[in-house]
Amino acid sequence: MNYTLMHKDIPVADLTLDETTGSIQRIDALFRGGHLPVGVSVRRGMADRAALNEWWEDRSIPASRSGLREALETMGVTSSKLLLTRCYGLSLSDRYWIKPVGSGLTWHSVNFFENSFSEDVGDALFGAPAKKEGFDFSSPDNTSDGFLKKRWKILDDKRCLIKAGSPPFLQQPFNEVIASKMADRLGIPHIPYTLLWDGGIPYSVCEDFVTPYTELIPAWRVMQVQKKDNQTSVYQHYRNCCNVLEIPNVAHALDQMMVLDYLIANEDRHFNNFGLLRNPDTLEWLGPAPIYDSGSSLDYDKLTPQIRSGRNITCKPFKKTHQDQLRLVTSFDWLDLSKLDGVDQDIREVFTGAEEFIDKERVEAIIASVNQRIQMLETFVLTQRPQEDSTENDVERNVAAEYGMGQQH
Ligand SMILES: Nc1ncnc2c1ncn2[C@@H]1O[C@H](COP(=O)(O)OP(=O)(O)OP(=O)(O)O)[C@@H](O)[C@H]1O
Ligand SMILES: [Mg+2]
Repeated sequence: MNYTLMHKDIPVADLTLDETTGSIQRIDALFRGGHLPVGVSVRRGMADRAALNEWWEDRSIPASRSGLREALETMGVTSSKLLLTRCYGLSLSDRYWIKPVGSGLTWHSVNFFENSFSEDVGDALFGAPAKKEGFDFSSPDNTSDGFLKKRWKILDDKRCLIKAGSPPFLQQPFNEVIASKMADRLGIPHIPYTLLWDGGIPYSVCEDFVTPYTELIPAWRVMQVQKKDNQTSVYQHYRNCCNVLEIPNVAHALDQMMVLDYLIANEDRHFNNFGLLRNPDTLEWLGPAPIYDSGSSLDYDKLTPQIRSGRNITCKPFKKTHQDQLRLVTSFDWLDLSKLDGVDQDIREVFTGAEEFIDKERVEAIIASVNQRIQMLETFVLTQRPQEDSTENDVERNVAAEYGMGQQH
């Protein structure tokens, strides 16, 4: 089947998609190389099909998504890649879509920012039984990334992402709220998250931060702009790629992200969990996106005695330990840790009513570990001297954690 890859109303390339696998079989014509997804290169007038396919496949719900197999069965679809064409590949994080050739569709008539969408895919992803008839696949849930069960909903006329936690503690939704409160106190640009209880289960809710004039480009895409050589650290490579694209204010935003991640002991800040904002019309880089997805933190999957031990906390995206990653911070001048006085009470409030999943002992252990990290950071800021970055202790494989599996994949 033939489609045109579109960036809003700009035709980017004509594609032939394989109906059975959902992959890009052929790029038939390239119209606007500059509007290709970031990191897809053009050589002798031809776009790199393998790179475009990787981008396209990354757009589908990852195979690791909690509950995906059951949801696909409910929907009668064999793979999440096949869901992409059912919603024209539209998402609520960027402005790309595919237009069936000769269809006459426009961005204005199809996009989910302005048009409503079906709840059917979200229902299936949340475990609802098969709908008897009239299943409507038009949903941004077909293109949502990440492991946790999630769905987009229109609440009070706003596009909101509703996200679950992972068993047994279902802690991520609470962590999202705590992380946003801490970021708030420290003046770090972030997405505010709130808690939503539904059927006795906690969820986090955040509004779509993409506006009519912006789109999210994950750091992973930016990393594809240049090839990394073995002498260059992961951190420096990301900075170099941002320099090539002339993106402003990157170092400061990374400083803030690494400090927040240290304080909340974030274990899953992989390269799809932060990124940049771009103007989709002019392709102008607007700077780093506000911080989102900080839920895999605060020892979310550890038992209470392990929280007290403070051990076995992994780190991403640059260094394997938070201690090493903190050394990459270029300046702490902006940081006022006294603003965190009162965070204990914030944390207790967030967990109020959640005893079924997070008991009092666990809450106090989390508070104690946050306070310990605040103190350690205070000492670090006073004693740390700037030093050269190297590839030592770099993260080798930056991929998302699979919760409940006790391993990285
Ligand atoms: N508020 C938002 N506005 C627009 N896009 C968003 C927003 N929040 C998340 N996204 C997009 O949705 C993706 C999935 O969301 P998120 O990272 O929060 O899920 P997750 O399941 O916690 O991910 P992970 O597997 O990394 O733990 C993000 O990578 C980002 O591209
Ligand atoms: Mg994520």
